[in-house]
Formats: sequence, C-alpha cells, structure tokens
Amino acid sequence: MLGTVIHRLESVPSTNDAARELVRSGAAHGTVVVADEQTRGRGTKGRVWHSPPGLGLYASFILRWDDPAGLGESFALLPLAAGLASAEAVLESSGVEVRLKWPNDLVRERKKLGGILTEGVLRPGAPGHAVVGIGINVNHVEADFPAGLREAATSLRLASGRPADREALLRGLCRSLDCWYNSLVRGEGEAVLGGCVERMAFSPGQRIRVTTARGETEGAYRGLGPQGRLLLDRAAGAASFSSEEIEALDWE
Ligand code: BTN
Repeated sequence: MLGTVIHRLESVPSTNDAARELVRSGAAHGTVVVADEQTRGRGTKGRVWHSPPGLGLYASFILRWDDPAGLGESFALLPLAAGLASAEAVLESSGVEVRLKWPNDLVRERKKLGGILTEGVLRPGAPGHAVVGIGINVNHVEADFPAGLREAATSLRLASGRPADREALLRGLCRSLDCWYNSLVRGEGEAVLGGCVERMAFSPGQRIRVTTARGETEGAYRGLGPQGRLLLDRAAGAASFSSEEIEALDWE
C-alpha cells in the first residue's frame, strides 16, 4: 500500500531528490515524501517547479519491484498512471474536474494545474525502482504565481472558488496511485491507457501541433498507442511520438 510510511518535511530542495536518497538507504515500496515547501522544485525538461510554502502539494512516491519480470513494458506507462491517479484524487477530494495534457500535465480550462516528474531505473529482468513526483497547485491565488506564469497556471482554489484540503488530496493520491500501479504490475496497461484517453484534454480528430528536435509537425489526434505513445494522423501519414522526443505540444 502506498503511504504506509510518509516522511513529512517542512522545507526541502526537491521531494524527488529526498526520495532518491531514501531509495539509496533502502526505503520500502510505497514510502512517500511530502513537503510544505520546495526550494528547488524540479519540473520536466530541466524546468523549475515553483513551490511556495503552504500552497501546493509537493509529493514523491517510491515504487519498487523485485519480480524479475518487473514492470517490464509497463514502465513507460507509469507517468500516465500517475496523471490518471492525480486526476481522480483531485476530483474526489475537491470536486474539480481536470483533464490530462499528454504526457505529464494536469490542466483545467487550458491552464496548468499540476505536473508529474517520474524518475527511475529499469534494468531488464532485474529489480527496479521509480520515484513518481507529483506537484499540484492547491491553494494559490493569482498573486501567488510568478508574473510570467499567471496567464498559464491555475489552482484548485481558483477553479472551485474555495480552499482545498491538501491532506485529503494526498490520501486520495496514495489510494488511486496504488490502484493504477497495481494494474500496471498485473499487465493491465490497456486499462491505464483507456482511463487516460477518457480524461485527455483533446478529443479524437482535434488538431495537435508537436515540436521535436527534428522540427514541428501537425496532425489530428487519434489516441494513445502501445507504450503510451501519442498517435497523430498527418497529411504525410500516421505518426506516433514518445514523451522523450517531444519538446512542445499545443492544441487548438
Ligand atoms: C512538470 O510539469 O514539469 C512536472 C512537475 C513535477 C513537480 C513535482 S513537485 C514534487 C516533485 N518534486 C520535484 O522536485 N518535482 C516533483
């Protein structure tokens, strides 16, 4: 069960870094690190995750598998499972409906409400581990975001008009991530993909623009494929993208 052991920290550079330290010292599967503030919160692609004290949920979950088969193919689906779990926990604890912007973002009316940073080690046929870091803007008002983020970011409080309970959100995350992680371990990646497609911010046929190191391409969103790849129908033919190759993704 996730969250049987929870390390609660007041201020920490990054809960993902603290969790990695705990992994090195042998912390068990399901251990959680949560902080009131992060002074060097990290986002994907080297970005900063703004983490002021008392306002957001900043939590990292340690997942370990010993079975030689491990998570295998499902490893690539972990960030999607975490997004799905976050959307469920947000809805359950605050009544706010969020959509998933593939691959790592939680969005509400096109504004970013949260993000996922998954870091881990997968060695074929060997035990492995991952740290799933989840950041959710909970009780921020507009002035709490840096000026450059105000247009693009939102919080549960801004979405619902009332303060939200970070503790209830954390409990919901433990439950929901536990459930979807176990689906992956049982080889039920299809269920995770189905849940993500249902909550995706864009609908089939919608125009999507993708930027990769090779340049920009556009197409109609078709769904998610094996390994959680983004499927697009383009004039030049069908294409699929992994989260690693994407630099930016926009939709109409
Ligand atoms: C993103 O959208 O770029 C991912 C943001 C992930 C932020 C969370 S907050 C808890 C954990 N600790 C970190 O330093 N980052 C993740």
